[in-house]
Amino acid sequence: DVNWKNSLAVQATWSGEISNRRAKEKVADEVSRYVKNGDVIGVGSGSTSYLALEKITQRVRNEGMNVTAIPTSKEAEMNCSYFGLPTSSLISVQPDWGFDGADEVDENNRLIKGRGGALFAEKLVMASSSKTYILIDESKRVHQLGKKFTVPVEVDPRAIHLVETKLTRFPVEHVRLRMAQSKDGPVLTEAGNVILDVGFNNIGDRLEDELSAIPGIIETGLFIGYSVEILTV
Ligand code: 5RP
Repeated sequence: DVNWKNSLAVQATWSGEISNRRAKEKVADEVSRYVKNGDVIGVGSGSTSYLALEKITQRVRNEGMNVTAIPTSKEAEMNCSYFGLPTSSLISVQPDWGFDGADEVDENNRLIKGRGGALFAEKLVMASSSKTYILIDESKRVHQLGKKFTVPVEVDPRAIHLVETKLTRFPVEHVRLRMAQSKDGPVLTEAGNVILDVGFNNIGDRLEDELSAIPGIIETGLFIGYSVEILTV
């Protein structure tokens, strides 16, 4: 017999340390108040989204609501399953709204996301939602994007030479191939692509579009001009 309390699914959820946990719990609490019966909700990836999902499913369960999740990664999908929230996909249904975390947020609500590597689906779900709540603690606020974090760029492995060459035309400080923690090889995304972590000297409003025009770049972690509302403590 499988003891589900100690199952692999439980191990896959956030059982480790969560930085700034108290602050993240507060924004998680706040976003859970926006849930209504019948909502289809985009569910972000990362530790803050995990805490928000926990709070949301508590409300859904306590109030007997009917809510469907659109997960932005396999990690988010497993978390939904762990908390017992039914999931669907963008193929079948569009989200009413969504929530997600961020790595950096500037004064104009421009974001860097994708430390977890789920940037492609995160952007798809965000672009499909009329509104996304971005859940952050104050440490994520920055005056200038890209000074603390590099910009993750998801690239088809066959295009790494091409993309590296094209990037030399941009104000780029450094480019690193994201490696697995074991250093055995590159991190591969859910779609089997690699991630380049790119340090830019200057992040203008057109950069996201300019990068997306390079063949082989699947998506970037720059989120500029999306319909977001920042929730913070
Ligand atoms: C994952 C993300 C996360 O939302 C971002 O990295 C923030 O993570 P956390 O909530 O754990 O601080 O973009 O791809």
